[in-house]
Amino acid sequence: MVNTMHIITTDDDPAIRKILRIILSKAGYQVTLCTHGQELLDTLSVHAEHVDALLLDIRMPGLSGFEVLSIIKKAYPSIPVIMLTAFSDLETGMKAIRLGAADYLPKPVHQSELIECVQRVITTARQEQRKAEAFSINNEYQKKLEHQLNTAYTTIMQTTMATIEAFSETIEQKDPYTKGHCHRVRHLSRRIGECLHLSAQQCSTLEAGALLHDIGKISVPESILNKQGKLTAEEFSVIQMHPEAGTRIIGHIDLFKPYLEIVRSHHERFDGSGYPDGLKGEEIPMLARIVSVADAFDAMTSSRSYRSALPKEFAVEELKLYSGSQFDPAIVDIFIDNELNEL
Ligand SMILES: [Fe+2]
Repeated sequence: MVNTMHIITTDDDPAIRKILRIILSKAGYQVTLCTHGQELLDTLSVHAEHVDALLLDIRMPGLSGFEVLSIIKKAYPSIPVIMLTAFSDLETGMKAIRLGAADYLPKPVHQSELIECVQRVITTARQEQRKAEAFSINNEYQKKLEHQLNTAYTTIMQTTMATIEAFSETIEQKDPYTKGHCHRVRHLSRRIGECLHLSAQQCSTLEAGALLHDIGKISVPESILNKQGKLTAEEFSVIQMHPEAGTRIIGHIDLFKPYLEIVRSHHERFDGSGYPDGLKGEEIPMLARIVSVADAFDAMTSSRSYRSALPKEFAVEELKLYSGSQFDPAIVDIFIDNELNEL
């Protein structure tokens, strides 16, 4: 059998070096002999890539076999080392294994035992090397997949936001008085979310939901939306249907499902007297409670068909006045403490 594998044998005893070389050469191994630990380390520093296994005596002058083993396991962890010991006790063998030896053989070494041991440690080392390579390839593949997923997610989110912005513009075109309202509610809601230390994901949902919150107004006739005078009870009830209408409009679109609760519940009131479901307190989804405050503040401080813009100070007083009845008091406090009226 032609064997191209390379073994370095290190032993200070010339007789043992000779026997080991004869046995290994006969088995077809290429053999290099070293007489002490430092010579082995010097040889490895040049030829480590072409070495398949090491036979290393424990008791040697200069560096001991254990000292050399420790250095090799750090510098060349993939090369298997078989320790040769004159002590056949279990403790010495255990120490060798603990320090990273692949196996140990008591001297005098028997031919069949030596060849079986060398073949076994080389096979095991190669299997481990293949496993490590497969793990590394798998890891790289996983990173590539993660990158592709992130890119796809970013593209979907950009497309979703562009679609949502287009939707919000259709509302503003129907009702010119709300021009810019959806964008201002979006930014104000996000600032409230940040002050509440919401996650990036929640803030992103909040922004998109705030842009969409009045989408149901598409279904309200312009004659009602833009009416100059006071609304009749019937007209007001038509306006009040916009959260449910919005839920129906976007409910069919999977991408918009995360924003449904904001669209449906932004006119609920903290005391349970809001619409469409009469939810109370924390039954109202938190993101909808945030949009409710931002929506009311912006509505008060911008011009409408039936009145001109109110001063910001007045709007803040109104938020305080209706804190706990219309608005979540914790959110009103956050709004005031962080002076979000100054945005
Ligand atoms: Fe609304």
